Amino acid sequence: MGAMDSIFNAMAGNTFPINRFDRDSHVVFFTGAGISAESGISTFRDPDGHWSKYDPMKLAGQAGFQEDPELVLNWYADRRKTICQAKPNAAHTSISNFQKLFRHSVVITQNVDGLHERAGNRSIYELHGNIHRHKCNSCGKITDLAKKNMRTLNRCDCGGKIRPDVVWFGESLPIGTINEAFEAVHNCDLMFSIGTSAQIYPAAQLPIVAQSRGAYVVEINPEPTPFSPQADMSVRDDAGSALPKFYEEFHAQFK
Ligand code: OAD
Repeated sequence: MGAMDSIFNAMAGNTFPINRFDRDSHVVFFTGAGISAESGISTFRDPDGHWSKYDPMKLAGQAGFQEDPELVLNWYADRRKTICQAKPNAAHTSISNFQKLFRHSVVITQNVDGLHERAGNRSIYELHGNIHRHKCNSCGKITDLAKKNMRTLNRCDCGGKIRPDVVWFGESLPIGTINEAFEAVHNCDLMFSIGTSAQIYPAAQLPIVAQSRGAYVVEINPEPTPFSPQADMSVRDDAGSALPKFYEEFHAQFK
């Protein structure tokens, strides 16, 4: 029995059309917090995720930051500490292997943890910023505090408050990054949508757009999402288990 047979059996008759793809296929790996879950990093909307314990408006919004900046900075500092101690998992590593097979492949992530980069993934579009960077909340200048796990409020030369360079609720995504992400999605043949609850827009639009442009979209998530009914294949498994199996299948096919 091949590595993929267990996935195919679980999919009740839905067969992955591997022959549709070759080394020149354009592949997008679209990821959310679930891809880092097996590295020990909390997701947001799972039963034990951040938003089951904390109020997102207090910790990930402009009003919360103005009201109590140090509460916000400390929450990010705690997350940064966990992230720095974590390691990329089999799903992140698998993407690096995939990227050796497919020269036209990109990673579009909602994650701010930097694990894709640490795993050696390339062409990474970080839609929601990066927790390891800081910027001025007023003028937007990036501030080099990478080595400092900032817990107290620092000020920019302009007087503005320094904050993590992540996207908060009510804020726009970095325009250049989202444009490049949509361009990659417009041209892709195959998308893996991995570990995202597919609820936060505009990111959640990406698998829908990919599919409307003719791409085959595989969702990998142990739980169903609003996108599941329309996914070409919805694999109910952990990313670190499913993605290496897909890779092995492609690797064997392209030998
Ligand atoms: P969520 O926490 O909303 O969803 C995580 C998804 O990962 C869930 O659907 C889980 O079922 C799934 N999951 C859990 N463990 C998994 C595993 N081992 N393998 C695969 N999937 C697994 O996280 P996101 O969809 O990334 O935004 O959330 C999107 C945005 O909402 C985040 O970027 C963040 C949050 O508020 C900002 O902070 C701007």
